Amino acid sequence: MALKDLREYLDLLETNSCLKKVSYEVSPILEIPEILRRVMYKKGPAVVFENVKDYPGWSVAGNLFCSTEILKKAYGVKKLEEIGERLIKPALEPPSTNLTGKIKALGEVIGFGRYTPKKVRKGPVFEQEMNDSNLLQFPAFKSWPEDGGTYFTYPLVLTQDPERKITNIGVYRVMILDEKRGVIHWQLHKRGKMAFDKSREMGKRMKVAIILGGDPGLLLTGASPVPFPFDKLLFAGIIRGEGIEVVEIDGLPIPARAEAVLIGYVDPQDLHPEGPFGDHFGYYDAPKDLYPVFHLEKVFMRKHPIYFGSVVGLPPLEDAVIGKAIERIFLPILRMLFPEVKEVNLPEYGMFHGLAIVSIKKRYPGHAKKVMMGLWGTGQFSLTKTIIVVDEDVDPNNLNDVIFAVSANVDPQRDVMILPNTHADVLDPSTKFAGFGSKMGIDATRKFREEAGKDWPKMVETDEETKRRIDEIWEKLGI
Ligand SMILES: Cc1cc2nc3c(=O)[nH]c(=O)nc-3n(C[C@H](O)[C@H](O)[C@H](O)COP(=O)(O)O)c2cc1C
Repeated sequence: MALKDLREYLDLLETNSCLKKVSYEVSPILEIPEILRRVMYKKGPAVVFENVKDYPGWSVAGNLFCSTEILKKAYGVKKLEEIGERLIKPALEPPSTNLTGKIKALGEVIGFGRYTPKKVRKGPVFEQEMNDSNLLQFPAFKSWPEDGGTYFTYPLVLTQDPERKITNIGVYRVMILDEKRGVIHWQLHKRGKMAFDKSREMGKRMKVAIILGGDPGLLLTGASPVPFPFDKLLFAGIIRGEGIEVVEIDGLPIPARAEAVLIGYVDPQDLHPEGPFGDHFGYYDAPKDLYPVFHLEKVFMRKHPIYFGSVVGLPPLEDAVIGKAIERIFLPILRMLFPEVKEVNLPEYGMFHGLAIVSIKKRYPGHAKKVMMGLWGTGQFSLTKTIIVVDEDVDPNNLNDVIFAVSANVDPQRDVMILPNTHADVLDPSTKFAGFGSKMGIDATRKFREEAGKDWPKMVETDEETKRRIDEIWEKLGI
C-alpha cells in the first residue's frame, strides 16, 4: 500500500528513527532554515517544528528527503531503479510469441492502469475553505539574509497544458509579494513555463494550483524531469506504485490528501522581478528576471496543517538526496535510450546540472562524443554543463578512478570538446547571461587507433603465475 499523505510519511520517518520533533519556539524567518542546514550537513534526520513563531496552529517539516534509504522504504522498493523499470517494462522484456506470454504481456499493459489518478469526490485537503485567502498565512521561509522576501521553497505548482490538458507538477519556488500575489519562478526550460508560453500565445490566463505538502511520491514527482507529454500525475502513481486520489476543482485535478491547496491564475501580461534568492549553487540568484505573478483566488487546507519547506545552499543539502534519487529512478530509462551506458554519477557537489560522469561500453571511434551529444539532446540532461565519459571498467562513483582516467587518457586538444553558445542552466552563476553559456565534454575513455593515431598502450597487469605464487606465500611473509 502506498503512503497516502505527508502524515503517513512522517510516521514512517519516526518509526525508522529518522525524525526529530522540536517543541522550542523558532521562526521560519532565517531560524528554521539555519537549523535545517546544520542538521542536513550532518546527514539528517528530518525535523518537525511544532511551535512556529507567529504561526499558531501550524507545524513545519523539513529535510524530508534526508536519505535515499528512507525513500526506498517510502516507495516500497529495494532499489530506486525499480521505479524507472516500471515505466519501461515492456521494453525490458523481449516480446513473447506464445499464448501464455501474450496474455501475461496484456495483463501488464492493463495493470499499468493501477498507476493512473483516481477521481474522488472529496478529500482531507478540503477540510477547511479559508474565508481569508491570504498568502501571508503560511509559514514560508526566508532562507538567507539577502533573499528578496519569503518563499514557498517546495511548492508543487500544478498546471495543465492549454491545448492537451496534460497535467504538470513542478517544484518551482514562489516568492510572496503580498496577501494575494506571489511570483512563480519556473525557469526557461521547464514545463510550467512551456504551458505558460502556450497560454500567452493563445492570449489567455492560465489556472494554477499551488499544492503544499503531500505524500513522498507526489513530492518527488514535482522535482522529476519527466518529459512532456507524460502526465505528472500518472508519474506520481508510478513512483507510489498506486494511482493518486484527485478531486477536480476549477477544472484542475487536485491531490485530495495534500496539506493545502492555493488556487489562482497567472496572466501573460503580468510579470514581476523575482529574487534575489540563495540557490543550489550557494550564490544569490543574481538576475532579477521577470516571472509571472500568481493571483490567489481561494485556499483550502487540512486541519492542523503541516507546511513543508526545503532549504538550498552550498551542497550537500536535501536537494542532493533528491538529485541522487532522481538519478537512480531515471537510470533504466537512460539505459534504454543509450544501451551503451553502464553507470551514471551526478555528484552531489555538481548540483544536478553542473557535472555528469557516465561510463559506457565503448564500441567504436567517436563513441564517447556520440554519447555526450545524445545526452545534451535529452530532456534536462541538456542543461548539464560538463560531461565526462569513461570506459565501462571505471566506476563513475569512484572519483579517484575518474581522476585517473581523465589524467591518463585525455589529450586535451583531442578529447575535450567545448560547445560555445549553448543554452545553459538559468541558475549557473558563471554564465554571462541567464540561460545561455557553453558546455564541455571530456572523453576519458581509452582510444581506438583511429582516434589516437597509434595503438593504445597496454595496461600493466601481474601475470597469473606470479599472482598464484605470491598468494601461496603471502601468509609466510609476515606483512
Ligand atoms: C528544492 C528544489 C527547488 C527547486 N526550485 C526550482 C525553481 O525555483 N525553478 C525551477 O524552474 N526549478 C526548480 N527546481 C527544479 C525543478 O523542480 C525540476 O527541474 C523539475 O524537473 C521541474 O519540473 P518540470 O520538468 O515538469 O518542469 C527545484 C528543485 C528542487 C529539488
